[in-house]
Amino acid sequence: MGVIPACTREADPGARVWRKKCSSCHGAAGDGRTRFAKGRPFADLTDGRWKHGSDRASVRRLVADGDPGSSMPPFADRLTPAQIDAVVDHALKLAAAGKPAARP
Ligand code: HEC
Repeated sequence: MGVIPACTREADPGARVWRKKCSSCHGAAGDGRTRFAKGRPFADLTDGRWKHGSDRASVRRLVADGDPGSSMPPFADRLTPAQIDAVVDHALKLAAAGKPAARP
């Protein structure tokens, strides 16, 4: 059997929070390929287009406060500040990995 890489990655708290709280809307890879994200282009975090700002502070603010103008929910009362930090890092990692220029 051996170690499955996905399980090793789950030790990363950001990846764990992403899977539990974000991937249903944004997809496991953050590319918004979910039924929910259809017709919501900004649910794709990997296309290099940002509505709320791509810098860490903006992304963190959006994840904490949500966007009342869309179905992006606020997480400040559902995650600890450390979990929000971790999942923001993870989201930015997915965004960077998904950019076409970064693909091999
Ligand atoms: C109920 C579905 C849903 C869940 C769950 C959800 N999101 Fe979102 N998210 C959205 C939608 C819809 C948008 C697009 C908002 C818009 O168009 O203004 C969005 C936008 C975003 C953006 C900004 C994209 C941009 O273009 O600026 C980030 C970053 C983000 N989400 C991160 C997360 C993270 C991290 C989580 C988990 C902690 C999460 N989302 C959970 C629906 C969701």
